[in-house]
Amino acid sequence: MLWLGTTSPTQAQVKPKESMILKGAPMGGVKFEHALHSKRAADKCETCHHVSKPEKPSTAAQQPCMECHTKPLQPGMKTGRQAAFHNSVAQAGMCVDCHKKANAAGKMAPAKCAECHKKENL
Ligand code: HEC
Ligand code: HEC
Ligand code: HEC
Ligand code: HEC
Repeated sequence: MLWLGTTSPTQAQVKPKESMILKGAPMGGVKFEHALHSKRAADKCETCHHVSKPEKPSTAAQQPCMECHTKPLQPGMKTGRQAAFHNSVAQAGMCVDCHKKANAAGKMAPAKCAECHKKENL
């Protein structure tokens, strides 16, 4: 069977860097430990990397968010760069929802602006 041993179509061929700095916000870049966030059994890739959507279909599995979620918006898109990660007051969104839940369970995940956005990461 030809497809045995090849990468599953839902998993990218590119390996993500262990740690990356997500840049763009004037208040500073956000250091994101990808490895820390994908090693636990509960960290499903799909939690953050959503499936392809018709408004702008994916060209690869786990394509970088910033290729589609930009400021200014690309034609047909309504979720900009900030909204892909959190709302304007950072009280809800992909990163923040999970951190709030984790902190309620006694973890120490950043939930304030300056705990994620750091000038040193600009
Ligand atoms: C907690 C959220 C989260 C989880 C869980 C997660 N990722 Fe990511 N991943 C990201 C973010 C954020 C980026 C950076 C996107 C960008 O730069 O636009 C990224 C980048 C990547 C990239 C790099 C793409 C490129 O070409 O630069 C790959 C590949 C990737 N992830 C694969 C995976 C796989 C496979 C899993 C599951 C094992 C996974 N990710 C789980 C958030 C996550
Ligand atoms: C290939 C393009 C593409 C990539 C890559 C992509 N998205 Fe999206 N995303 C879309 C489209 C299209 C929509 C639906 C239209 C809209 O809301 O603008 C969407 C919607 C969203 C939404 C709005 C809520 C929802 O589910 O409808 C969030 C939040 C989001 N994306 C976060 C992310 C994050 C975080 C990443 C990277 C881990 C990412 N997206 C990668 C295209 C993409
Ligand atoms: C599914 C849950 C989940 C999601 C989604 C998530 N995180 Fe986290 N994050 C955690 C937990 C839990 C911790 C606390 C560290 C630990 O106990 O593993 C953490 C810790 C962190 C830390 C501090 C760790 C360090 O490097 O010192 C940063 C920064 C961070 N997250 C950024 C992000 C960003 C940016 C996003 C969105 C792209 C995100 N996280 C999405 C669960 C999550
Ligand atoms: C859990 C981590 C986290 C917290 C907390 C957080 N942010 Fe963000 N924010 C991100 C990530 C990741 C991005 C996407 C990368 C970027 O654009 O810098 C982002 C993007 C943004 C952007 C969009 C920048 C652009 O390029 O368009 C703005 C503005 C912003 N955040 C402001 C805030 C403010 C204000 C707060 C507090 C009320 C806050 N953030 C709290 C992680 C966080």
